[in-house]
Amino acid sequence: MASLEILGIFVNPLGPRISRMIPEKTVDEIMNAAVIEEVVGDYVELKKSGSSLRGLSPFTNEKTPSFYVLPAKGIFKCFSSGKGGSVVTFLMELEKASYPEALKMLARRYNIEVEEKERSPEEIAAATAKESLGNLVTWASKWFVDQMKTTDAGKAIGRSYFVERGFRDDVLDKFLIGYSPESWDALATAAQAAGYPADKLVESGLSKQREDGSLWDFFKGRVMFPIRDVTGRVIGFGGRTLSTDKKVAKYFNSPESVLYNKSKVLYGMHLAKPAIVKEERCFLVEGYTDVMAMHQAGVENVVASSGTALTTGQIHLIRRYTKHVTVIFDGDAAGIRASLRGIDMLLAEGMAVKVVLLPDGDDPDTYAKKVGSDALHRAIHDDAQDFLQFKAKLLADEAGTDPMKRAEMIRSVVESIAAIPDTIQRSVYLQSSAAQLGMDESVLGSALAQEIHKQSQAAAKRAARTSPHAAPSGTPSYPGTPGTASFPGDPGAPLPVDAPPVGEALVPAVSERTVVENDLVRALLEYATEVVTVRVEGEEGAEATDLEVPFAELVIHRLEEEHIEIRDPMNLSVVKRFSDELDHERILTADQLANDADMGVQQKVAGALVHQHVLSPNWSNRHKIYPVVERDQLISLLEDSLRRLHLMDLRATSKEVASKLQAGGLSVEDERDLLAQKVQVDREIQATLAHFGTVILP
Ligand code: CTP
Ligand code: MN
Repeated sequence: MASLEILGIFVNPLGPRISRMIPEKTVDEIMNAAVIEEVVGDYVELKKSGSSLRGLSPFTNEKTPSFYVLPAKGIFKCFSSGKGGSVVTFLMELEKASYPEALKMLARRYNIEVEEKERSPEEIAAATAKESLGNLVTWASKWFVDQMKTTDAGKAIGRSYFVERGFRDDVLDKFLIGYSPESWDALATAAQAAGYPADKLVESGLSKQREDGSLWDFFKGRVMFPIRDVTGRVIGFGGRTLSTDKKVAKYFNSPESVLYNKSKVLYGMHLAKPAIVKEERCFLVEGYTDVMAMHQAGVENVVASSGTALTTGQIHLIRRYTKHVTVIFDGDAAGIRASLRGIDMLLAEGMAVKVVLLPDGDDPDTYAKKVGSDALHRAIHDDAQDFLQFKAKLLADEAGTDPMKRAEMIRSVVESIAAIPDTIQRSVYLQSSAAQLGMDESVLGSALAQEIHKQSQAAAKRAARTSPHAAPSGTPSYPGTPGTASFPGDPGAPLPVDAPPVGEALVPAVSERTVVENDLVRALLEYATEVVTVRVEGEEGAEATDLEVPFAELVIHRLEEEHIEIRDPMNLSVVKRFSDELDHERILTADQLANDADMGVQQKVAGALVHQHVLSPNWSNRHKIYPVVERDQLISLLEDSLRRLHLMDLRATSKEVASKLQAGGLSVEDERDLLAQKVQVDREIQATLAHFGTVILP
């Protein structure tokens, strides 16, 4: 079979680079060791659902789980973002990692030694900025620990500071606490001697540069708290001064970088994940030392916002593991008031929020050390109050009987209730808050209705501003056509029942052409080896014969014959794979493609494979929407798709000709030719439409 030149040249973006960096043998070893549900489980709370596992998508902000892992196939599929593929793809997507980076993450997780061959200066330079910055901060973190543990100053100043504060060595080790010596250039010198270039030191924020180009250590004389991402990689630092001088900033923090996005990181998350999942709750505190003190007291499901207002990104990070959050306030009134808004954001993201108020002047660190572990446990578990009750009480006490203040307080409480997305929960809160404030429920209810209206209008305005072309959510962009089998699983097609509603996350608008291509490619993936019978006309009067061919062969053959282009890059990658294999007289199967090096291919395959498992066994009996006769319809699906794609091409040509005619300024001959072409194309359009049993008047 001839190659599909009309489909364009296919370039595998990953191929050559991988093999140069990590030996093939090691790649195999990593892939054999990696268990997709374990790796995904580091980020997503997965629950069993038939033969697959299901959880909340880490890629979107969904509230109904539509993220699937198929352990047996080693793939994942996310219906709300459309992403899918192997465990490597998962890490690449989620960690924004390159292919080698993702492999190395897996290697680290499964304790596989990756022997990279000695890299040349060019190769070092070519390593992605993220990777080299990551290497530097990881190195620096070890250096700081080393300083604290092995140098006299480190022991006498750094470590003794923590000892005086009552921190145990095992806790310091767990958090990789270190010490940055009181020297202008000890770190910069050591880092450069270890091969890290000056510009990376500056980029990481570890060093600052003087006018003459020389470097000085930004964190000099501070104790160091490495900030780590969800997988435990060091991405930045907080450095605390040991000076009591109020004019010296207590903490210095690393700047944002390609590595460190402050709004998506929570201090301690890497260590907290398993405990959060186990306890089904996450404690939220303010500071680095609070997290450490909680661990020391045996509470591990705790993270810190690092003193800043909570961001949506941080909330989403928590929500991957649990919906239950307990915010621990130190008892300082101003601080609490400032935090109330952030808590409304937690509610808006569908979290169930409790609060604990510590006695005035105490933070979790000081409190834990004052009262001991048992009392701390009691305080954070038994004394936790529902957030809305807490807020209503706090504001009501503040307002007293002043009517203006009371009105303001009610508005504020109503704002919080309105933020809750779940209507049932909202009405429960409406009731309890009305009772608590001694108000008539209907009065509070109408205030709530107004607030919700106001918020939804504001949201609509925001949406209109940010995405003028967004498809209306909840409506599949393509209604499905008579005569085509409807293949669930692609973003554009209707989804099976136990898949999530499409409206959950905004599915990117898909062009009509892509939808048709998706259907065809899905069928190709799913039924590649299915034998179909086609009737072939004999040459010059010879009798027609029936020919049995695998479906994949027919698809590729017909695409070529009709000169139809597949345009969507992912669809094109898949089709190209099949056509390449056909050139060698082989038919690919979706399983073979599931771990393809091309992410586009993986994603397509995941989409095709997953729906078979997502579909509950008696679904078709119950609903009769996706009839089992799919296979019998393969040929009509193919022909139908070809015709649709052809029709789109014809329409595009017709439009193009029409606009040339309209533009005018043509010679008589040109105009005549164009008119003839237009008539011809329009006739073909009508003929094609007639196949669908539809005649559309011009
Ligand atoms: N913070 C900061 N910069 C500051 C002060 C605070 O980034 N100048 C952040 C830090 O992440 C800190 C958190 O806000 O952990 C809470 O601040 P604070 O309560 O002052 O610090 P603690 O962590 O409690 O530190 P310590 O116990 O040593 O006082
Ligand atoms: Mn504090």
